[in-house]
Amino acid sequence: IHVLLICGGGGSEHDVSLRTADFIQGELAGAPGIRLTRVTMDDSGRFLDSNGQVQELRSDKLLYSATGSAQPVDYVVPSIHGYPGETGDLQSQLEILGLPYFGCGPEASKICFNKITTKLWLTALGIDNTPYQFLCTNTAEESAKARDALAKWGTLFVKASNQGSSVGCYRVSDEEELEKALQEAFTLSSYVLVEKCLKVRELEVAAYTYEGELVVTPPGEVCAPEDTFYSYEEKYAEGSRAQTHVVAQGLSEAQLGWIAEASKRAFVGLQLKDLSRIDFFLTDEGEIYLNEVNTFPGMTSISMFPKMLQNQGHDFCAYLSALIRSAVR
Ligand code: ADP
Ligand code: DAL
Ligand code: MG
Repeated sequence: IHVLLICGGGGSEHDVSLRTADFIQGELAGAPGIRLTRVTMDDSGRFLDSNGQVQELRSDKLLYSATGSAQPVDYVVPSIHGYPGETGDLQSQLEILGLPYFGCGPEASKICFNKITTKLWLTALGIDNTPYQFLCTNTAEESAKARDALAKWGTLFVKASNQGSSVGCYRVSDEEELEKALQEAFTLSSYVLVEKCLKVRELEVAAYTYEGELVVTPPGEVCAPEDTFYSYEEKYAEGSRAQTHVVAQGLSEAQLGWIAEASKRAFVGLQLKDLSRIDFFLTDEGEIYLNEVNTFPGMTSISMFPKMLQNQGHDFCAYLSALIRSAVR
């Protein structure tokens, strides 16, 4: 079986995607009967091999090299956080080609990558999510909504609607910071949302299909330092002070049950496929909100998804190679 691992992409999470691809490549290296080719998508959508040579996946499902040689592709692993992988665009192309691939389809990807459509869907599915307002245009009229939210909620999170890894995410406490954050967020996305800043514990669940069954792990926890939040730097930079715990401690049976039920409802209702990481906020008052659904969670050395699988007794290589074999059969 020839697997094409596509990483990189043209979005802000290009580098994180390479780190996830390193993990997947390492895991699949020993999988019997599976051969892997890795290409990096550049800003213009070209696939480059490790020598910087262009490779092209054409409609005959063959991967053409710069010299004109070609090899059939059986399965694709789109290892791209953000555009154009987690946004579903690449998956649409794979659907058109009729090539099986790892992860969620175009529709679920599109819905979940956008923080506003995610919330609309969660509300429709009856799943509590963080109080918010959304802004459709960068105009004085719309930013009045954000100022009202600031007056009502005190500190806010301003978020570009279509970014991940905390890119375009700002915590603001006054009108000046708010205005600056709105301007920056609008350079990244055409919709922006503002959320009430909650004092929270951050809980993450891995939800994935293993041997045809949906598995929802108990929540793990990420703890950002007190003086900041789980920002891009605290996620990936050298010297990050964030801590992760593969199993969160001290949750009641009722809280665990609520999180498991909401995760299942989100996975099934949003028609997710193969994998996801579903993130929750638990407030000091004991309220639980679903924050976001990641259709292609990070698999870097600090990331929770692979650790939560492992803690569940599920070997990542066995998991992914079984999905590949059953899709290619
Ligand atoms: P991303 O998709 O980029 O991960 P998130 O919505 O998860 O965006 O926000 C990134 C981080 O910002 C969260 O992990 C959390 O630390 C902080 N954060 C986001 N929204 C809130 C909120 N409403 N209250 C408190 N912290 C928040
Ligand atoms: N968007 C990053 C990679 C994550 O949520 O894990
Ligand atoms: Mg997040």
